[in-house]
Amino acid sequence: MLQKPRGTRDFLPDEMEARRAVEWRLREVARRWGYREVCTPEFEDLELFTMRSGEGIINEMYVFEDKGGRKLALRPEITAAVIRMYINEAKVAPKPLRWCYYADCFRYERPQKGRYRQFWQFGVELIGADSAIADAEVIMLASDMLDTTGVRYELKVGHLSFVKTLLKDVEPETQRKIRQQLDKKDFEGLEQTLDEMKKPDLAESLKTLVATQNLSEAFEIVGAIPERERIEQTIGYLDAAGIMYSLNLGIARGLDYYTGIVFEGFADNLGAENQILGGGVYRLAHLFGGDDVASCGFAIGFDRVMVSLGETARTKDTVAAIVCTPETRNRALEVARAFRSAGIRTEMDLMDRGFGQQLSHAAKTADFAVIIGQREAASGEVTLKDLHTGEQKTVTLDAAVAGVVASGSRG
Ligand code: HAM
Repeated sequence: MLQKPRGTRDFLPDEMEARRAVEWRLREVARRWGYREVCTPEFEDLELFTMRSGEGIINEMYVFEDKGGRKLALRPEITAAVIRMYINEAKVAPKPLRWCYYADCFRYERPQKGRYRQFWQFGVELIGADSAIADAEVIMLASDMLDTTGVRYELKVGHLSFVKTLLKDVEPETQRKIRQQLDKKDFEGLEQTLDEMKKPDLAESLKTLVATQNLSEAFEIVGAIPERERIEQTIGYLDAAGIMYSLNLGIARGLDYYTGIVFEGFADNLGAENQILGGGVYRLAHLFGGDDVASCGFAIGFDRVMVSLGETARTKDTVAAIVCTPETRNRALEVARAFRSAGIRTEMDLMDRGFGQQLSHAAKTADFAVIIGQREAASGEVTLKDLHTGEQKTVTLDAAVAGVVASGSRG
């Protein structure tokens, strides 16, 4: 038997319905904040993703050559593609641009719960606004979006300048290593790296920096940094808006294009793969032949949100099953049309089952049976049976439709 590729998933209807319900809630929040949907190709020129994504992502890419000999890659993320599109299509559009997307990405990672080779991101990019209020808007939107899914999470906000300032004399490769150690709170590894560099005294400052919840303390440790005012303003806006977050100045992010504020969301009830959101301020446009426009965005790991929500994400349609005889089928079609016009999911027997068999099938698959026997067909009424309570009554078609509509979801 053929199986799906490793790290991919099939989604059955129940799961798709649950996913779409959450997706639409995210779309609705994006709409309210003015973020309009864009769509980019599933694959791009390889170069788009190798320019500034960072080693980690480059090693995980699905790369292939097409029949014309072009080197292409399945997108491992969407930000670079959105910025490429901005330069190709919308460079002269009035700024800022508020865009969002819901799309799949591909990374050749070791699959486990919450980590897949094909996964979906719901993301936003705010392009062309270079201010504290712009950064704050994106973080507020991140918080609003995670709230709307119902997931329980912690939002961590940091800024790359603090650690970068402390490590300004350290060569880039080692800087990256230290940033990762701080991000993972691997203090033993950190001390070892600093010992090897003969800079053990940096350990204390770095450890205090990543632990502090106090911005003033952080500024005291690193001394004057040019971004200070913007950072204070952004954090001030978040506090004024009552956003729940904690400070984490050790956030490193896995992608290399970030330049300023960075933030991540973590689900309370997930294990190793608990990061459900990542984003920050970045600059990419100038690398792709555009102006050096400032941008800020984030992506929600949609699949991880669904894992975190588990069964609570399930919402079920109310289902009406039309039960009829071969003689009453034409009337049954009319009745089905009336139910569907009222927005009710309505199913008819297609297997020539007998009356009794139709009823027992309906008991397994529906919430209501709408019975149309000879008597009902003659009177123009229907018998509506609530399959949860067993209660049944013969009423007009309008009353039956209204009764099912009023019953709400039985999920
Ligand atoms: P990222 O942190 O690489 O950022 O990915 C965003 C989110 O996608 C992660 O926080 C995680 O929830 C989810 N994710 C990543 N890899 C996997 C996987 N293998 N399986 C399931 N979920 C996964 C970005 O991609 C940036 N483009 C975000 C951004 C947008 N920054 C600025 N704008």
